[in-house]
Amino acid sequence: MPSTATENPFRLSCIGCGATPDSASENFRCPSCGNLLEFISPHQTVDPQTLKSLWLSRKASAKKLDQSGVWRFRELLPRVPEEHAITLREGNTPLYDLPRCARVAGVDSLLAKHQGMNPTASFKDTGMTVAASSAHQGGFRWVACASTGNTSASMAAYAARGNMQSLVMIPEGKISWGKLSQSLDYGALTCQLRTDFDGCVRILDELVRHKPVYLLNSVNPYRIEGQKTAAIELLEQLGWEVPDHIIVPGGNLGNSSAIGKALLEMRDLKLISALPKVSIIQAQGANPFYRCVREFGGTKLESMSADTQATAIRIGNPASWKKALRVLRETSGEVEQVSELEIAEAKAEIGSDGIGCEPASAVTLAGLKKLARKGFVKSSETVILILTGHLLKDPDFTIKFHRGDLFAGTPFEKDASRAAALQRSPVIVDADLGAVISVLNAAEKGS
Ligand code: F0G
Repeated sequence: MPSTATENPFRLSCIGCGATPDSASENFRCPSCGNLLEFISPHQTVDPQTLKSLWLSRKASAKKLDQSGVWRFRELLPRVPEEHAITLREGNTPLYDLPRCARVAGVDSLLAKHQGMNPTASFKDTGMTVAASSAHQGGFRWVACASTGNTSASMAAYAARGNMQSLVMIPEGKISWGKLSQSLDYGALTCQLRTDFDGCVRILDELVRHKPVYLLNSVNPYRIEGQKTAAIELLEQLGWEVPDHIIVPGGNLGNSSAIGKALLEMRDLKLISALPKVSIIQAQGANPFYRCVREFGGTKLESMSADTQATAIRIGNPASWKKALRVLRETSGEVEQVSELEIAEAKAEIGSDGIGCEPASAVTLAGLKKLARKGFVKSSETVILILTGHLLKDPDFTIKFHRGDLFAGTPFEKDASRAAALQRSPVIVDADLGAVISVLNAAEKGS
């Protein structure tokens, strides 16, 4: 089997027992204790100012790696020879202000880093470029992942660009059409398994022991390294001024782990002088990490059967919970859970700022409202929401919400009228000037 060994100065280390294996096994778990591995970066002697100037100067370069908002920060990434790097010019995502959302959340100002503006429209691309490149370097023919839809879309695209075959395992009927259509178009072998995401993970874990396929889920530490760059790019966009809070959705908990790892490394390298609080928000129906922290004081994670219409985070047994717990503790962040109705309202509010996102991303605003009400976030503090996926990933959710039938037949139906003011149902009218003018006049009166 091709090797995943690395000649990098970056070393693998187990987050549980501290073992430092030379190479990773197929499932990226510690051969001694079964915990996840992470990369430990070599001691950098570079002056922080020099690094910042180097990264900025690459923005003007025409080189393919410099045009990537991930590889531009390659000094903080495991080395991959340029001929193996697969890039779609990922990263480079905008930081938007959200004035209407700030008002509803009760904060003076609010910013969103929109990771949905990546090439396959989710944050997964920042990690995928690094991990897919490592698969290419290892000579793998097949890459594979279990997914709620975004990882698979991203993996399929990067595999196609790198001339590798990709195998996708998704829960049947539980991912959005937008995401499924991406993996089909990018040429993946797509298996819809009659189970949930956690069931897909179990099968894949078995599969990698039997076949030479390279695992591209976020247990793969190369994924985490690439996803770190969202936080580095964010700090650069903020002129290296540290915000008070960063708020991230929590599903399998790779992204919060990556953002936290980047912040700790930036602090150690003196690129920043303080740490923002990283808070993690889960959907109430898929809240194993919330319960781990609130009910068990972080001592254990009880897996659950997850259910939420924010299908991206419909995950009951998150792989990276120990890494995320460390981030929460080291940055003094909070964990929060939000209801289905709160997610839907927050998504429409982010849309009303002209930005939009997919449902899983909207947990950030819903969570912020709760954290602000509790006084954990003060109105004068700077807050960044990490929006993880594009609005168009899941148009079904959006259309059902605006038509008023998102909650039909669910336990939330009786409270759903609360969201009526945010709903903009399409109006069907005759092809007649007078009819359209009447609709316009009615809207004018109502606004
Ligand atoms: N937001 C979106 C849009 C996602 O697709 C995911 C995860 C998350 C948030 C949660 O991030 O897992 O790092 O905590 N989606 C995965 C997938 C699991 O398969 O696409 P996390």
